[in-house]
Amino acid sequence: MELLEAIDGRRSVREYTDEPVDDAVVRALIDAAIKAPSAINQQPWAFVVVNDTAKLARISDQAKAYLLRESLGAPAHPFREMLNDPKFHIFYHAPVLVVIAAAEPTDWAVEDCALAAENLMLAAYARGLGTCWVGFAQNWLATPDGKAALGIPATYAPIAPIAIGHPRRQPPPVPRKAPEVHWLGTTTPPKA
Ligand SMILES: Cc1cc2nc3c(=O)[nH]c(=O)nc-3n(C[C@H](O)[C@H](O)[C@H](O)COP(=O)(O)O)c2cc1C
Repeated sequence: MELLEAIDGRRSVREYTDEPVDDAVVRALIDAAIKAPSAINQQPWAFVVVNDTAKLARISDQAKAYLLRESLGAPAHPFREMLNDPKFHIFYHAPVLVVIAAAEPTDWAVEDCALAAENLMLAAYARGLGTCWVGFAQNWLATPDGKAALGIPATYAPIAPIAIGHPRRQPPPVPRKAPEVHWLGTTTPPKA
């Protein structure tokens, strides 16, 4: 698949089939992730692969409870009703979760892990897989209990929880705002 086609076509997928994702394919996605640039080539990332659906359901429940208890603030927060729904699975029943964690607290570890995540998501799309970065999981995964569930040291920082699976359907395009662009050169910029 052409790179631009993948950039254009990738969508966050929120409906997955039950079909498992082969471990070798997950490994290939991680190999694509680590081709991302990183500051001073420090490659501060570590990858946790969770493909135990019972464990994923437990993480989903813990993350929802944590958000409701600690993070949402206002009682009328738009996500409260969704997170209160016992049937809402934050990973959308995807068979695999890859958590990209910063293993070293370098100055740019978050940026590096996010770039690795985008590589992983594009590589998954090129293989016909769907992905979704699940920010809902981040707060709980960053707690001591969350890190213990991932089996990572307390010094690691989970950055990018990426659900992966076979999409039930390709989601429709999601609109983009026109970018605010400031041209400071001497050329005549192209019209938007
Ligand atoms: C940091 C980050 C956190 C996100 N968290 C969630 C999430 O918790 N649940 C979810 O369904 N989508 C989540 N998304 C997906 C965004 O909603 C999605 O990327 C956005 O709506 C644009 O749609 P697209 O990815 O299909 O282009 C997250 C994306 C990013 C980059």
